[in-house]
Amino acid sequence: MDDPVTLPAEWLDQLGDAVPAYATAPRAGVHDLRGIETIAAAIGTPLMPWQRLVARVASERHPERRAEFRYKTIVLTVPRQSGKTTLMRCVLMHRALVKAQRRSFYTAQTGKDARERWRDLVDAVQASPLRSKITVRRGAGDSSLSLPNGSRIRPFAPTAESLHGYTPHDVFIDEAFAFDDAEGADLMGAIIPAQSTLADRQLWIVSTAGTAESAFLRRWVEQGRAAADDPDSSVAFFEWSMPEGMDAGEPDSWLWHPAVGQTISPQTILDAAATMSAGEYMRAYGNRWTTTRDVIFDDDLLDALSLEDQTPPPAGELSIAYEAAIDRSVGVVWACWTDPETGVPSLRTIARNPGVDWMPQTILALRDQLHPHTIGADDAGTTRAVTEGIRRLDEWAELTTLHPRDVTLAWDDMRDRIRGGGLNVADTPGWREACANAVQRPLGQGWTVDRMKSRGQVADLIAAMVALRLHEHRSADAGSPLVEFA
Ligand SMILES: Nc1ncnc2c1ncn2[C@@H]1O[C@H](COP(=O)(O)OP(=O)(O)OP(=O)(O)O)[C@@H](O)[C@H]1O
Ligand SMILES: [Mg+2]
Repeated sequence: MDDPVTLPAEWLDQLGDAVPAYATAPRAGVHDLRGIETIAAAIGTPLMPWQRLVARVASERHPERRAEFRYKTIVLTVPRQSGKTTLMRCVLMHRALVKAQRRSFYTAQTGKDARERWRDLVDAVQASPLRSKITVRRGAGDSSLSLPNGSRIRPFAPTAESLHGYTPHDVFIDEAFAFDDAEGADLMGAIIPAQSTLADRQLWIVSTAGTAESAFLRRWVEQGRAAADDPDSSVAFFEWSMPEGMDAGEPDSWLWHPAVGQTISPQTILDAAATMSAGEYMRAYGNRWTTTRDVIFDDDLLDALSLEDQTPPPAGELSIAYEAAIDRSVGVVWACWTDPETGVPSLRTIARNPGVDWMPQTILALRDQLHPHTIGADDAGTTRAVTEGIRRLDEWAELTTLHPRDVTLAWDDMRDRIRGGGLNVADTPGWREACANAVQRPLGQGWTVDRMKSRGQVADLIAAMVALRLHEHRSADAGSPLVEFA
């Protein structure tokens, strides 16, 4: 992330800890903040400081052409449940009330979602003192909220054709992460020509961070980040996201969140961690981009692998692999053996502790206790130091280390088996976490798990993958493992 944002002191005071990662700063001139705040209060959601900042800047008028907004495009990215949709509702209602014949359109990830959020808007207004001012029409393809001044707010489906024949002043795209390049191009193809004849127009692109599939949003976020401190840009940009290097398990790591201390407590966010994968949690609550193309296994795949029989692997019939997390935060040892009934390889953790200093001694103890065919590890990262540590304790220790080519084959096999179900795994939080964190990188002509770029520890996944590889390629003659001396 670039330099900290430069906002006027009065705004920094209001925002407190919820400092945006990027924000187009307010500039002197005419704007609608007061009007939008009145509407927000009337519909029961007085604006939070972050919503005020966005409403203030988004409604700034062009310094020379007062009928126009200064910014033709507003790009806004904040975590889930921050109040994005609520803010848009207030701005939409304000525009409809103060401008005659205003044409405003709202869409979201699908036409159905757009209609549902539009209905929420209608419900909120009908429960407010503004109820007497609106007329609502709910038709299949023709829903609208109208005002006596001729203004209308309508939902639309995010497709190439849906704005055909309309000239919309305002277009609000909610949940913009849902669109890939082609869908984004269709949507913009529908919006841009329809809006082009209106000087008094604005487009809002709003979302929580996306995944590798969210190419449309990604481009706008990149453009927005560059625009945030460009005074001539017609794009205003706002982003609140978790800064690098924070410990997501600490309540104080969430103070940057724009709704924390307003409508959400840090504990609510911490509690949500238990309900989703680490990658999805950071996307949804941290507003951090994940690369799902690389989130290799979703939870359904992992559910299907669960090893129900918890009997320990039989001594003498297994292979063992170890891996140390690159930041030395955790070390793991996994065992692989063949299920005697099904012939399917089975994997489980046999040791897992914080730090890595404990590893050499414990691995030797496990060897003496379990008499594995093979003990080994990937010859990379912090794990290499563990291998050296074992050899310092026992210079005759028989350890098999994987060459890069073996590693790509091991990863291929692991991926195929997880996807195809040819594997039993004793499920643990560490295993789930490693699978959610894993990001791949090319190695030679193949792929492997990237220890540096993954979103957190991947030690369980790598140890399991190496154990599987060692077991699949063990010597047929038990007790005489493949031996490789350093
Ligand atoms: N200014 C506000 N005052 C009080 N409550 C608010 C305010 N803004 C939002 N909320 C409440 O916070 C919750 C989340 O708001 P909203 O649905 O607008 O968030 P969102 O960012 O669109 O969430 P999602 O990511 O789930 O779409 C709702 O219950 C909403 O009523
Ligand atoms: Mg929403």
